[in-house]
Amino acid sequence: MIVVVGSINLDLIVTMDRLPAPGETVSGKTFSTAPGGKGANQALAAARAGAKVRMVGAVGRDAFAGEALALLKAGGVDLSGVAEVHAATGIASIYVSGDGENMIAVAPGANAAVTKPAVAAQPFKAGDHILLQHEIPFVANEAVFEAARGAGAVTVLNTAPYRADAAHLLEKADYVVANETEFDLFADALSLGGTTREDRMRAFAVGTGRAIIVTLGGDGVLAATPSDFLKVGALKITPVDTVGAGDTFCGYFGAALDAGLPLQEALRRAAAAGSLACLKPGAQPAIPLAADVDAALAKA
Ligand code: RIB
Repeated sequence: MIVVVGSINLDLIVTMDRLPAPGETVSGKTFSTAPGGKGANQALAAARAGAKVRMVGAVGRDAFAGEALALLKAGGVDLSGVAEVHAATGIASIYVSGDGENMIAVAPGANAAVTKPAVAAQPFKAGDHILLQHEIPFVANEAVFEAARGAGAVTVLNTAPYRADAAHLLEKADYVVANETEFDLFADALSLGGTTREDRMRAFAVGTGRAIIVTLGGDGVLAATPSDFLKVGALKITPVDTVGAGDTFCGYFGAALDAGLPLQEALRRAAAAGSLACLKPGAQPAIPLAADVDAALAKA
């Protein structure tokens, strides 16, 4: 079983020809809303990959909550771990430019109410795969790592969005998934030895006994374990909107591990799913089904 402990947002999306510079106003082309939040996106990706998924998080008692949870509900995700709290449902204000680049500002709202007691009460089990990100308070993630270790569950920490004060959490996870910018910043913060990214990934894996996975967008993904170094390519695509691609990677990766796939195969499926997620607008609406990933891999 996959358990995602993380954020649930409603994404407020404006498309435009080019992103604004600081202090500048540009005219938007379209406005839409879609369910989002890194935690919820990863939960839906894992469900679309075929895993049994439980979401732990919080929404407000407001008009946005129903829409924020709609695709998770439709995707069969168990929402019994989602609390309703006295705060606004989290939102992300997202700008997407014509060339698929984006800017995101998040107002966490109810996500800030995912606290230590809330997660400590969760029934983690041996063999569960628990997915975490940095959009809920650190104390909650720390409590999850503690409870997961006690239960014999496997943890996958996605280091998005980058938070300088989160370096201490990396060595607690069984698998760390970072994009290249996040990894390079953490590598500096943790004073990892080596001159190349590959050296520094190996240094992290050997020093902590954990696996580190670094996503490179269109260039694929790298992974270091204490005994191995892997490289996996991405699909050749022209991105329309990359929002949620990293979350799709993480959800598919967790689901593949949960299904018992070896690391190389789990990375291959996750990278293909992440590529396909760039072909449609929005985070959750763009997450591919397992059959789409199978078809794309068969053609690759
Ligand atoms: O990773 C994409 C997500 O980041 C969006 O869905 C948005 O809600 C923000 O949390």
